[in-house]
Amino acid sequence: MSESLEVVARSVVRRWIDEEGLDRGLLDAVADELCAALGGATTVMVDDGTGAALAVLDGSRAWCVGLDARESDNETALVATLCARAAQRGASRLLSGGPARWYLRSGVSSGERERAWVAAHARVIATHWDLWVDPRGVAMPAHDVEPVASRADCEQIASWLEAEFSVAWAHEVRWAFARGAVFAARDAGEWVAVAAHSGHCAAAGTFGPLATRERARGRGHGARVARAALASAAERGFARVCVPWVDREVVRLYEGLARVEARAERVLYAVDLLGR
Ligand SMILES: CC(C)(COP(=O)(O)OP(=O)(O)OC[C@H]1O[C@@H](n2cnc3c(N)ncnc32)[C@H](O)[C@@H]1OP(=O)(O)O)[C@@H](O)C(=O)NCCC(=O)NCCS
Repeated sequence: MSESLEVVARSVVRRWIDEEGLDRGLLDAVADELCAALGGATTVMVDDGTGAALAVLDGSRAWCVGLDARESDNETALVATLCARAAQRGASRLLSGGPARWYLRSGVSSGERERAWVAAHARVIATHWDLWVDPRGVAMPAHDVEPVASRADCEQIASWLEAEFSVAWAHEVRWAFARGAVFAARDAGEWVAVAAHSGHCAAAGTFGPLATRERARGRGHGARVARAALASAAERGFARVCVPWVDREVVRLYEGLARVEARAERVLYAVDLLGR
């Protein structure tokens, strides 16, 4: 990894920590994890005196990992420059957050930085919630859930997630597996539900993905695997985990499992870069 990429990555992590009100002591651990994830990725960055910005190229899409504007007025300039650089590198869309394995955030907070994205003619792709949940006191289910212990099982689950949901979830579950943090349920020999923690930004306390196969929904599998992952996060000392990308109708599932301490509405914007 180049020295300049590392400088930009640290700068966007520092800004993210300040904006999220996280402990500054997390800086090195999160930045090291991000830098490790970025090794081998194609990146586009800006470090131009107005601040820093970083995006990862993934096929025709570019994902904005973070911005660190020295003054809020500079955010518009940073987003515009990031768009121009991503377009030069062949990207057709720049998205305002996640969800590939490198992300710090799932989108832009409502009211914050939206001006910069609107100025870049971004359109809203989705709005959703990031929740901060206190996992302490969640009981580990006694049956019908197992910790995923073998790589072969993890790969079966990752293939299912990739086929039915996204490559990002497959990545996330593999990273969580490396940390012994994947819990799943089977039915008739097939994995039907999975929940994980620590699949990205592990030092900061993160949860996800959570999924149940469509045919097995509404039978308690989702709640059970989620409880197992939350209880495991609490056992590792986390008093708070961030659950990103929660659709409005799934918020109440989490509210039924644990205390939701805080929430932020996020907007996923996309800037069309073709013709720029
Ligand atoms: C969300 C999901 C994992 C729930 O799985 P599930 O196995 O059907 O969940 P459960 O049967 O354990 O239900 C748990 C509770 O959540 C509620 N619930 C689950 N999914 C819901 C949904 N999509 N909308 C509203 N409520 C839902 C159930 O009604 C239940 O509440 P109850 O105990 O009061 O009846 C599943 O719908 C899914 O895979 N969705 C697509 C992926 C997704 O959105 N993941 C969450 C990412 S944050």
